Amino acid sequence: MSGDVILDVRDIMVSFSARRAGRKYRVQAVDGASLSLAEGEVLGIVGESGCGKTTLGRTIVGLVRPDSGTIRFNGADMIGAGSSSLREMRLKVRMVFQDPNASLNPRRAIGDSVAEAGDISGFFKTRAERSAAIAATLTAVGLNPAFADRYPYELSGGQRQRVGIARAILPTPSIIIADEPVSALDVSVQAQVLNLMMDLRDQLRLSMLFISHDLGVIGQISSRVAVMYMGRIVEHARTRTVLDQPLHPYTRALVAAIPKPDPSKRILGAIEMGEPPSLFTRPRGCAYAPRCPLASDRCFVEVPNLRSAGTDGRTIACHNV
Ligand SMILES: Nc1ncnc2c1ncn2[C@@H]1O[C@H](COP(=O)(O)OP(=O)(O)OP(=O)(O)O)[C@@H](O)[C@H]1O
Ligand SMILES: [Mg+2]
Repeated sequence: MSGDVILDVRDIMVSFSARRAGRKYRVQAVDGASLSLAEGEVLGIVGESGCGKTTLGRTIVGLVRPDSGTIRFNGADMIGAGSSSLREMRLKVRMVFQDPNASLNPRRAIGDSVAEAGDISGFFKTRAERSAAIAATLTAVGLNPAFADRYPYELSGGQRQRVGIARAILPTPSIIIADEPVSALDVSVQAQVLNLMMDLRDQLRLSMLFISHDLGVIGQISSRVAVMYMGRIVEHARTRTVLDQPLHPYTRALVAAIPKPDPSKRILGAIEMGEPPSLFTRPRGCAYAPRCPLASDRCFVEVPNLRSAGTDGRTIACHNV
């Protein structure tokens, strides 16, 4: 199924200025993250709240400018490219946002929201073509084309997220960055929306970065997973490998925290996740060291780089495994 590398992200650094207790700080939201996505592949990005997943996704679609690093789409530079080729690439790499309520303009009819990227890029040649594309896209996401004339407040949460997905697939993209697309939804509709995304992936031959804090959800839909901790990728491997044999101590804690359907298999209290980290007090060495059961002196002074581990393309950033 998976083919050539379609998206290559290298050494991305993103910092923001922040204020705390009257002082100005720069927080490093993404701290040298690298990943690659193959054609037709779903790559999961997992990590706890605040580790930089959304910022990395927004950087890839061009909503945030990185301080440094490179992003290549089919080999072409997406950061320094001239504006016309960049506009074309932007239509090919699209994002589904976590909160459909915040990402839809309440005063804009659904059809206009769905057509927005096409309108901005001059994609539609006639009004008839535009209307037909809106109707076909709404149908593709399981909504009645008559929804085009409705407004977000008339829709349920699940329907709004379907509109969020419709916005991302018109005009036809190659890559979808899905930022926790189901976590704001009622559990009863989460599976439906996930199934829709997987159907669309097959029909439209999409590649996908699927961001989630839930390794259980990632396990259902992605073939590889990148585990992110304080702005860096700490383990990157086939999802099955990560779930069966997590290597990085942080990945092990995440895997142990997945709720198990069978209570006798639950690893109760085996690994304590501990306090989440603060970007204001980033440790000097490995960012995970203060919480890590394996940490040695070296971990507190030297940042571990990603290195190969094992035969199936797994990489890991840890001094001690
Ligand atoms: N525009 C911004 N200005 C200042 N700080 C920001 C901005 N966007 C993100 N941050 C900070 O960057 C860090 C990473 O945030 P980000 O939203 O990328 O994390 P996340 O992994 O998506 O978290 P969550 O799981 O809660 O969505 C956080 O500390 C956040 O407060
Ligand atoms: Mg987020």
